Amino acid sequence: QAGKLWGGRFEGESLQAVEAFTESVSFDNALAFHDIRGSQAHARMLAAQGVISSDDAASIVAGLDQIRGEIERGEFVWRVEREDVHMNIEARLTELVGDAGKRLHTGRSRNDQVALDFRLFVDERLADWARLLKAVIRSFLAQAREHVETLLPGCTHFQPAQPVTLAQHLLAYAWMFSRDIERIEDCRKRVQISPLGAGALAGTTYPLNPLAVAQDLGWERAFANSMDAVSDRDFVLESLFIGSVVMAHLSRLSEEIILWAAPQFGFVTLPDAYATGSSIMPQKKNPDVAELTRGKTGRVYGDLMSLLTTVKGLPMTYNRDLQEDKEPFIDCDRTVSMSLTMAAGMVAALVYKPEPMAAALKKGFLNATELADYLVTKGLPFRDAHEVTGKLVKMAEVRGVGLEDLPLAEMQLQSALIEADVYPVLDCRAAVERRKIPGGPGRASVLHQIATLTALAAE
Ligand code: ARG
Repeated sequence: QAGKLWGGRFEGESLQAVEAFTESVSFDNALAFHDIRGSQAHARMLAAQGVISSDDAASIVAGLDQIRGEIERGEFVWRVEREDVHMNIEARLTELVGDAGKRLHTGRSRNDQVALDFRLFVDERLADWARLLKAVIRSFLAQAREHVETLLPGCTHFQPAQPVTLAQHLLAYAWMFSRDIERIEDCRKRVQISPLGAGALAGTTYPLNPLAVAQDLGWERAFANSMDAVSDRDFVLESLFIGSVVMAHLSRLSEEIILWAAPQFGFVTLPDAYATGSSIMPQKKNPDVAELTRGKTGRVYGDLMSLLTTVKGLPMTYNRDLQEDKEPFIDCDRTVSMSLTMAAGMVAALVYKPEPMAAALKKGFLNATELADYLVTKGLPFRDAHEVTGKLVKMAEVRGVGLEDLPLAEMQLQSALIEADVYPVLDCRAAVERRKIPGGPGRASVLHQIATLTALAAE
């Protein structure tokens, strides 16, 4: 197999179909710049350890810089017969700098090389997700600041439950996304471990300095076990899981936007820029961005399942199956990044409608808990208060009115403890403000949450 970097022991020609089946350069060229960074760090370390000359290291570093330029300018020719990103770059390097290029792979295997490249790639993408998540949080904060006073029905089981502020509702999403950022920060500690020096699986006989390579790349840790270093893909699984949770959060948000934008709700108006029309129905303004975000959640879950399934039966250590780690992550990254970008823009541009929300407060007896709590303050045990209030709800429901519309005399038939001071208690705004508990929907808590999240989501 003339021309192959591993061709020494082979005699027959490669089959084109086999080459097409085994190649990865068509997708792992996404790792080109990371491969170059890793190789430059490796070359510098080889020279520092006296394994290659500093002249050779300088030629390698300069040659790789030139290759980076060729890739950036779109001049680099990727060759499928060179199989993957690593061998494409190494072969080109040898064309450019001769024997020095052939010394680069000393003390290294593609097994530790690909693990390093992919760690650098995943780490960079996770940092970008965190940046995008902060932008999404800032969009929620901008909306929340406008709606500290806006009331709407809070739901459980999608049924009206108790009144809340819109700010509190929106901040609930901001907190979800803040935990996604925490997960990313925690995960990056385990991504930032350099596997270089693990070799194919059993380390190497050269006096390499793995920690120096790690530090050259801005990381603090090198691998602790050479076999683990080349076969571990936990860091990808974790990242895919984080991507899946981000998408779950975006999907819940999308579902709500879709429901709230429907005329039956009318709680939100979609900005034109984030909606599309129908080719047949002239009146339509469809929430396609939200729907596609909800839809794309499925493919990211699929990416996670794909890699979990790929690794589940693998014996130690590196197996070629692991090449299948890249496409799911690249797909996940593309989808998560695009969806977060859309969400940051769309959330900021949504127009929330306080009037339909206020109208909705009148349906569903959102103040029933207030009445029960009122009776408790008058000395009734909570279970009895619950019972009395339930009877009054039934009475109001039959008449098609709210609890606040029932005449005092009729309420007193259920409990003599009810007096005229019950009416202000039944007011929804008062109900929210009475909830002084930290983390509650009232003004003080909401302003405190906004301040905490603002610091957390600063650029
Ligand atoms: N393209 C391969 C991958 O992504 C690189 C490592 C190949 N190693 C090997 N021994 N065949 O996993």
